[in-house]
Amino acid sequence: MDLFKKLENRPSPLGEFTSDGYGYYTFPKLEGPLGPKMKFNGKDVVVWSINDYLGIGANPDIREVDHQAAKKHTFSVPMGARLMTGNSDQHEALERELADFVHKPHALLLNYGYQGIMSVIHALVDRNDFLIYDELSHACIVDGKQLAMSDKSVYQHNDIESLEKQLKRATSRSKENSSILVVTEGVFGMTGDLGKLKEIIALKEKYDFRLLVDDAHGLGTLGDDGSGTGTHLGVQDGIDIYFGTFAKSVALIGAFVATEPRVVEFLKANARSQIFAKSLPLAIVESARERIKLIRANPQWREKLWENTLRLRNGLREIGYNVLPSESPVTPVLTEGSTDLCTTIMRELRENHGVFVSGVAYPVVPRGMVLIRLIPMASHTDKHIDKTLNAFEAIKPIVFQNVSEKISA
Ligand SMILES: Cc1ncc(COP(=O)(O)O)c(C=O)c1O
Repeated sequence: MDLFKKLENRPSPLGEFTSDGYGYYTFPKLEGPLGPKMKFNGKDVVVWSINDYLGIGANPDIREVDHQAAKKHTFSVPMGARLMTGNSDQHEALERELADFVHKPHALLLNYGYQGIMSVIHALVDRNDFLIYDELSHACIVDGKQLAMSDKSVYQHNDIESLEKQLKRATSRSKENSSILVVTEGVFGMTGDLGKLKEIIALKEKYDFRLLVDDAHGLGTLGDDGSGTGTHLGVQDGIDIYFGTFAKSVALIGAFVATEPRVVEFLKANARSQIFAKSLPLAIVESARERIKLIRANPQWREKLWENTLRLRNGLREIGYNVLPSESPVTPVLTEGSTDLCTTIMRELRENHGVFVSGVAYPVVPRGMVLIRLIPMASHTDKHIDKTLNAFEAIKPIVFQNVSEKISA
């Protein structure tokens, strides 16, 4: 059968929406300057769907930094992979600054978080090793697992007993040259709960393993100094490899891992997505350096983010919504309903209330449930939050029309 013909009938949970819902539910175009208020389909909307947690996109100083960096360097230089012709003093300086920021001895820049962490996982474990990861891990971890040559097993989400079972299994099957890598997220991006890092690290007393933490959503949002979930929980030292991306709080592109120098040296020679791909442009690197400097110098951005998060979350709860017990700014609202309800909520909020949210239904959440995820930013104002709460109040008859009994938190 012709491959392209076959694709027409290949089932996919998103297929219907990438065609019928194109430009609206999928691939929507938010226009105008990045910020809490943008244009969608020509209308002003308050945006709750972008991970610019610290409101950097709306910051005039950062816009100026970008402008100067692009003018000075263009987006072309350097050409080539870091290993060949794509390295610079600026790339190395950014790595030192990132390591210092997240309290690790050394760091390695990655072009994109997704490919970067996949390659890191692939490089770290070989056929004698064991890879154990949380079942709710982001797709980049799951895809990294697909590449890995090691034995692989999954533990139930944040279930330490389940993890211990897998550690026992791996330990009992270990050969002399076997090693174990455990991977979790710092903040789980859909539900906002934190990886149980303290409990996982405590297992090191009993089992010999290394821990990789994907802290995409924790970097910049958690910890006294913004250095993430490990710092927030007081266990940053117990994280052996810390992964952060610029795609959220830094509102840029690129990522990094921070760890011991010997691991960085190994990854430089073995992380294939970095060896065989062009390095980050200098303008991006220079902008990242300035952004990290500003994030560290402006803790009030993080404070405002948390103030907004609590105002939104408490407000939603007060008007009767079930906000899952997130410990990060990610604010997930769960309700009973079908995919149709999910799209109706998004459409109603966008068309009649000027509020842009994203929602997911089965298979991302169990069948019969709808999850609306709101991402607060430091740049949201009280007015934006109140407008949103009023909108959620107004759509209650639609949201709760079929709910037999409200699910308690
Ligand atoms: C938990 C998590 N890990 C990794 C990534 C991938 O990072 P990047 O966008 O830099 O490729 C994302 C999404 O951006 C994410 O949410």
